[in-house]
Amino acid sequence: MNQNVIWHEPTIFRADREKLNRHRSAILWFTGLSGAGKSTLAHAVEDELHSSGVRTFVLDGDNIRRGLCKDLGFSDADRTENIRRIGEVAKLMLNAGVLVMTAFISPFQKDRALARSLVEQGDFVEIYCDADLGVCESRDPKGLYKKARAGQIPEFTGISSPYEAPEKPELVLPTGVASIDECVAGIIDFLHKNKYMP
Ligand code: ADX
Repeated sequence: MNQNVIWHEPTIFRADREKLNRHRSAILWFTGLSGAGKSTLAHAVEDELHSSGVRTFVLDGDNIRRGLCKDLGFSDADRTENIRRIGEVAKLMLNAGVLVMTAFISPFQKDRALARSLVEQGDFVEIYCDADLGVCESRDPKGLYKKARAGQIPEFTGISSPYEAPEKPELVLPTGVASIDECVAGIIDFLHKNKYMP
């Protein structure tokens, strides 16, 4: 970091924004294989929360990779950089008073640990979308598993690039077998029980 870059202390803080919003902010970090349901769930949870007056935002892998992270591919190093940037953006949104949801494969334990370490305990809720590779592959909503099996996509998660399941996520959702509604209800219930929502 450049020594001549000096932090400017704001006058309005996260707590002021949370008070205005009448709810606390947090990061809900969805992780899981492609096709496990991360984006679908994050957007379904956002629909619920938005209609009850919660300020939300979803950072979605495929969308962010068209803008902020369009210079990155899928090597281990690029995925690490992708998740580092998302961790920082999620932290900014946390400080903006938003309940932010991130939907990235985020396959590496150390990268998720780094994102978690940027914020205070309790601000980071890791949600493991636990669906078998077989289920994700049979769903294949974008036709990418088929291409990966045919050798047309190198370093594809679950096929030719690893996925490290979380060891101690705050929440595990059996997204391979449970319905979207059941999973959304599980998240909303968690948020109420743990005082993330009034
Ligand atoms: S991450 O590994 O860096 O967290 P991210 O969530 O941003 O990945 O992007 C994953 C999405 O990119 C997948 O849902 C899929 O649509 C697309 N994709 C394209 N190539 C790959 C690949 N080699 N591995 C995984 N996903 C890929």
